[in-house]
Amino acid sequence: MSRPLWFAANWKMNLGPDEARAYFKTFRARYHPREQCEVWFFPPAVSLEAAAHAARERADLVVGAQDIHWEPKGAFTGAVSGPLVAQAGATATLIGHSERRHVFGETDEDTRKKVAAALAAGLAPMLCVGETLAEREAGNTLAVVTRQLAGALGGLDGGKLGQITTAYEPVWAIGTGRNATPRDAAQVHREIRAWLAARGMAQARVVYGGSVNLKNVAELLAEPELDGVLVGGASLDPASWAELVQTGAA
Ligand code: 13P
Repeated sequence: MSRPLWFAANWKMNLGPDEARAYFKTFRARYHPREQCEVWFFPPAVSLEAAAHAARERADLVVGAQDIHWEPKGAFTGAVSGPLVAQAGATATLIGHSERRHVFGETDEDTRKKVAAALAAGLAPMLCVGETLAEREAGNTLAVVTRQLAGALGGLDGGKLGQITTAYEPVWAIGTGRNATPRDAAQVHREIRAWLAARGMAQARVVYGGSVNLKNVAELLAEPELDGVLVGGASLDPASWAELVQTGAA
């Protein structure tokens, strides 16, 4: 029996507006809507408008920002806000990606303010959580993930929680070629689901990210705890991303 699946492409700092237009031309030609499948794209901010325009009239394709500032506007040079990315066509945003946390020093408190800002701007938040290798080896995976959930979502009621998608992305699996096993991921996904259920979110969406590729996507999605995947490197080529989505959805 098929279930709803979410495939999310995080382009990171790649693909400008012209490249985004060319990407969607190829992707749309190769990937046609499939029942119960949504494909999300997180281009860099400069390519949001091009991507949103290129994805138009395809309800199964969602375009979102990689990050937003918590303030709606003001003197924050270099930052973009929820209302600004919404104006460019975004309907979603990543929050707390591990690169934001570990390269740019983003805190749990920052993620809390960004989740609130995303909801206020009408953007669907995809909150990223995940432990480092040292934290995993010290047996702290669940403590870290729970702390990140509480930090970002602690104050939200069930209705608002219902708008959140959680992405479990263990830091040691991102860009390393070393993915979590389906079993490892499932164990953390169960904890995330339990945490959300205890706060009134019965039907949580939890996707996995970290070295997902064409070769391992089917095995990962055979695990029912995974509602989808969040993919970096393997989402940058539109033809192979289309193939990855089709393989995972098969
Ligand atoms: P990779 O798929 O390149 O490991 O990146 C994962 C990621 O960080 C997606 O947000």
